[in-house]
Amino acid sequence: MKSRKLGISRIGKNARRLLGIDKKYISPSYTRAYPFFMSRGKGAYVWDVDGNRFLDFTSGIAVTSTGHSHPRVVKAIERQARKFLHMSGSDFYYDTEILLAEKLASITPGSKDKKVFFCNSGAEAVEAAMKLARYWTRRQYFIAFLGSFHGRTLGALSLTSSKYVQRSRFAPLTPGVIHVAYGDCHHCTYGLSYPQCDIACVSYIEDVIFRRYVAPEEVAAIFVEPILGEGGYIVPPREFHPRLKTLASKYGILFVADEIQSGMGRTGKMFAIEHWGVVPDVLTIAKGVASGMPLGATVAPSKIMNWKPGSHGSTFGGNPVSCAAALETIDLLEKGLVKNAAKMGDYIMKKLKPFEEKYRHIGRIGGLGLMIGIEIVRDKKSGKPAPELRDRIVEACFWKGLLILPCGPTSLRFVPPLVIGRHEADEALNIFEDVVREVESRRHRR
Ligand SMILES: Cc1ncc(COP(=O)(O)O)c(C=O)c1O
Repeated sequence: MKSRKLGISRIGKNARRLLGIDKKYISPSYTRAYPFFMSRGKGAYVWDVDGNRFLDFTSGIAVTSTGHSHPRVVKAIERQARKFLHMSGSDFYYDTEILLAEKLASITPGSKDKKVFFCNSGAEAVEAAMKLARYWTRRQYFIAFLGSFHGRTLGALSLTSSKYVQRSRFAPLTPGVIHVAYGDCHHCTYGLSYPQCDIACVSYIEDVIFRRYVAPEEVAAIFVEPILGEGGYIVPPREFHPRLKTLASKYGILFVADEIQSGMGRTGKMFAIEHWGVVPDVLTIAKGVASGMPLGATVAPSKIMNWKPGSHGSTFGGNPVSCAAALETIDLLEKGLVKNAAKMGDYIMKKLKPFEEKYRHIGRIGGLGLMIGIEIVRDKKSGKPAPELRDRIVEACFWKGLLILPCGPTSLRFVPPLVIGRHEADEALNIFEDVVREVESRRHRR
């Protein structure tokens, strides 16, 4: 691939000025990997406050599904904003929220006889699912997976176990969460190999947890990301979700698919769990649903979401402007962007896969559609994690004009908007390969 000249070597004066103020006033808990200061965006491109252009393969953490400021989404937002900005769906009625609920009930897997609870974020959608699961089952316990990310509010954080820093000093969390190993065949917790393992990570729940630790009749729900997101973009084997669902159904446990990152077309299907042919009992949505407007949703069959008025609510949840953006977003997804995610995902994967052989610091490359994870290792033989090297690669891509994000212990992710074409894909791949090449030659020379 063609070499690309370095984009910028230091941030400009406008960014420097903002950085000074940011350092003084913004919570230091945020995890910025490099100093990108957004000024505007269009499609897959963004510009910083000093006029530099970058290719955005982060989508603002998997949010801007239709690209930055898609003209149709912006129009829908403007239309709604002129009518009214807020009325609260918890106490009143308005069309955008009602029509969006009808739409979500029809595009999520399973029968259309569903109800939707609206909120503002992923963590809130997970909180609603946790409360609903306890309410419906009258059971207390939850099962979640090591490496998973479900949000940072105290309930959702109890399920999260991606990095200990996310939980550190926040205990005690919601009691009753049991963490088990995820279906990560490349780093099997039990040291087994697929398929000889016979999906031991799922059997363990029944054979060990349900025998020794908690009766299955006390478990309200299993929370699972169809593809591990923040935890490293790990695609479990084809038997994983169906076995998990069978186990859940056997004991009347709710199967909650957290589609906050993997949903809304990103993997080449509207929801990632469809790749496994599983119909979840509860499904959580946020991030890409409204192209950047804040919105979360918890979707469940009407039979399950039958809680009493007052049992859950939200002042801002289902904001009319966010709902208008979501209706337009879903229309764009249905009319081509989901298909494009599948097509462009294949295109990128075909070009990336050879990197596994070609470069010594590239480990496993995996993903579905435009949810692609690349593991960075010290060397291929040991396969040992190289988080510092990963961080250096992520930062070096930034200086060359490509925005990507880290994930998991030692991976980085490509999460572009679903509108990308070959041109953007090639540009990203060229920059990434340049950086990998430079890193490898520098380390080799030492
Ligand atoms: C799978 C998953 N669930 C939940 C969340 C939490 O979403 P939010 O940051 O909107 O609270 C995230 C965020 O990254 C996520 O990826």
